[in-house]
Amino acid sequence: MNFWKELQNKNKIFFTSAPLDGVSDFAFCKICLENGADVVFTEMKSVSDLYFKSKKLIKELEEYKEILKDNNVVLQIYGHDAEKFGKAAQVAEELGFSGIDINLGCPAKGVISSGNGVMNMRDLDNVYNIIKNTLDNTSLPVSIKTRISINVESIIKNQLILDKKTSDFIEDKDKVTVLDLLRKIKDLPISCVTIHGRSFEQLFSGEIDYEIINKAKEILKAEFSNSPALIINGGIKDKESLDKVIENINPDGVMIATGSFGKPFIFNQLKAELENKSYKITNDDLKQIIRNHAKYLFKSKPTGAHLVFRKHLLWYLKDCDNFNELRSKIITIKDLDSVEEILKSF
Ligand SMILES: Cc1cc2nc3c(=O)[nH]c(=O)nc-3n(C[C@H](O)[C@H](O)[C@H](O)COP(=O)(O)O)c2cc1C
Repeated sequence: MNFWKELQNKNKIFFTSAPLDGVSDFAFCKICLENGADVVFTEMKSVSDLYFKSKKLIKELEEYKEILKDNNVVLQIYGHDAEKFGKAAQVAEELGFSGIDINLGCPAKGVISSGNGVMNMRDLDNVYNIIKNTLDNTSLPVSIKTRISINVESIIKNQLILDKKTSDFIEDKDKVTVLDLLRKIKDLPISCVTIHGRSFEQLFSGEIDYEIINKAKEILKAEFSNSPALIINGGIKDKESLDKVIENINPDGVMIATGSFGKPFIFNQLKAELENKSYKITNDDLKQIIRNHAKYLFKSKPTGAHLVFRKHLLWYLKDCDNFNELRSKIITIKDLDSVEEILKSF
């Protein structure tokens, strides 16, 4: 039984950190795991780079090694060339990841301009082939992450073409939705689907569309023979937003992205609060988390760690009373000693 099924079978909501480009490196994943995340996702990685076994990428992925053995660590890949996904899946398995996630939701310009991420929705037969090739080349569980929809107009505006067969297949002729996608791939044994409950046009803010997600949940239950796990993502930052998702959808799991910035303890916090236990993080607890995070990052990235950690420190300390004073120090940190200096000043 794969880890997604095991989590699903516990009948208790599980928590995942999110794939976050520029953020979810080894150190971030480790700190999330230590603070309650049941599954972590790497930053999205290019399927072409995996296909060609780019030295730079393999080195980056080897950074995750320390956490691969005893944790659920999912490698997220993006691209659109179905053939390359098979080889990429083999490389992911060789490296020791627990699962492979296919990015069908990213709206970033640099990603969609070549037809990747959410723009894959313009050709559902190709998405089918991408997933099938991945599944055929690995014994790892395969998952997908997607959005609720993308308008046909947005595809055209981005100088891409809506595939003719997809156009004939979709229910609402103005958009391709997660429901179309799931109906297209229902005979493929994917293990998990993460739905970011916003459309391409909404990007990263705005209301979550519960109605369409509930329809997607029905399709996963009724039309897939293995009932893949359902994860909801979007706007979960505290107990109130989590309750809303549980009340409206009751998914198997939730994924937290921006809500974990500077707050990797959000996973333990929400787990405690779901059991009506109070959760308090003291200044000393926070300092220890920051210290550990910095230690993991500086150890795994011999060069450039200070630049990455400045961003995290700004997130960690943004609510401090003396943040303005701290900010000027944060943006000059160079090493672990300068992180320690900052920790003395709050
Ligand atoms: C800085 C940043 C980087 C992201 N990188 C990825 C990525 O690599 N892959 C992906 O599927 N989504 C990526 N996302 C989207 C998030 O995983 C998530 O779907 C989105 O932020 C909504 O969740 P939230 O409301 O909890 O923040 C990224 C988002 C942000 C803000």
